[in-house]
Amino acid sequence: MAILVTGGAGYIGTHTLVELSDAGYEYVVLDNFCNSDKKAIERVEGLTGKKIKIYEGDIADGELLDKILNENDINACIHFAGLKAVGESVREPLMYYKNNVIGSIKMLDKLMERGVKKIIFSSSATVYGDPEIIPITEECPKGEITNPYGRTKSIFEDILMDTAGADSELTAVLLRYFNPVGAHESGKIGEDPSGIPNNLMPFITQVAVGKREKLSVFGDDYDTPDGTGIRDYIHVVDLADGHVKALKKIGVLPDKEVPADKGILIYNLGTGRGTSVLELVKAFEAASGVKIPYDIAPRRAGDVAKMYCDASKAGKDLDWKAVRDIDKMCADSWNWQKNNPEGYNS
Ligand code: NAD
Ligand code: UD1
Repeated sequence: MAILVTGGAGYIGTHTLVELSDAGYEYVVLDNFCNSDKKAIERVEGLTGKKIKIYEGDIADGELLDKILNENDINACIHFAGLKAVGESVREPLMYYKNNVIGSIKMLDKLMERGVKKIIFSSSATVYGDPEIIPITEECPKGEITNPYGRTKSIFEDILMDTAGADSELTAVLLRYFNPVGAHESGKIGEDPSGIPNNLMPFITQVAVGKREKLSVFGDDYDTPDGTGIRDYIHVVDLADGHVKALKKIGVLPDKEVPADKGILIYNLGTGRGTSVLELVKAFEAASGVKIPYDIAPRRAGDVAKMYCDASKAGKDLDWKAVRDIDKMCADSWNWQKNNPEGYNS
């Protein structure tokens, strides 16, 4: 038995492969490398001591999926593959809908046809929009999403729900990630954004390593204690561990399947703690010993003041908890960046 990991060469995928190996799972990876590097897979092989079976191609390619399903005994899929840059999705909405929605539908259709009916899907806290409830529980209704990327996540959640409504064998876990940061503590794998980072932590680490001059803090007039935006940062290794726990929850163990809950299961994966932009800058400076120059810039369109979750449902149902704190997230992000100033091309 093996897990199909789509997008396994990416940031969260690579960290999850390491955790899957540690937990004794077999897996194969499908990735088209549109936003990742083959060196990332080699680094995972170095960490796990195992050769990875990798299929290079697109999730929408039915023939390739047939080949993967013929050559391997796949019993579940962790679906990371997707495009994720918010700004790019505003400029190229059709590319996002085609890749993240149509591609995922084609993949789901093939998996259903071939009887692979256990799926873990990378969703996002972005589906809550400007949340009605803080801390955000899974009961919080989805909100008004401000960009096409976010809508692709919400749409595919709905598609999985409708499909599960029509076929009681389909079990899908929708994992709503909060803000993944950090890196494997070895410093061998981490986040390697192309171009100017959109997200806060990679921007900070690139300032620290001298690639960018200073950070722009997007707004200091929010209704928060220091006026800057609050987010729920989660260490990527804790997030990766959430996927292993989700597999167990749906009865997929390394060597066998056991009876388990069916249908749609939704979990927030975050720490439950909010950290402001300036608090994160301070924590990073303390962890790295490097000063981060910044200035205050206007608010970024689409940003909300506060996003942090109540992660107790995942705690109770999955026996999962984020255990790495903000200092560890900063230390591991810095360790990765300073050892790999140019990412995987260092
Ligand atoms: P990433 O870009 O590092 O990894 C995604 C991987 O999918 C890449 O290796 C890319 O080459 C591959 N891919 C994309 N489209 C593909 C396709 N059509 N066929 C085959 N492979 C394809 O992103 P990540 O940060 O690891 O995120 C993984 C998933 O989690 C994504 O779906 C993302 O939207 C979601 N997510 C990420 C965050 C975050 O902050 N990183 C937050 C919430 C949700
Ligand atoms: C962003 C996306 C979200 C996506 C998530 C993960 C937007 C509006 N939201 O979330 O859809 O799921 O990334 O990819 O883009 N900040 C700065 N300066 C910077 C960068 C960020 O001050 O250079 C601030 C932001 O205003 C925010 C916080 O840092 O308050 C975190 O930003 P970011 O890392 O981009 O994550 P989100 O905005 O939460």
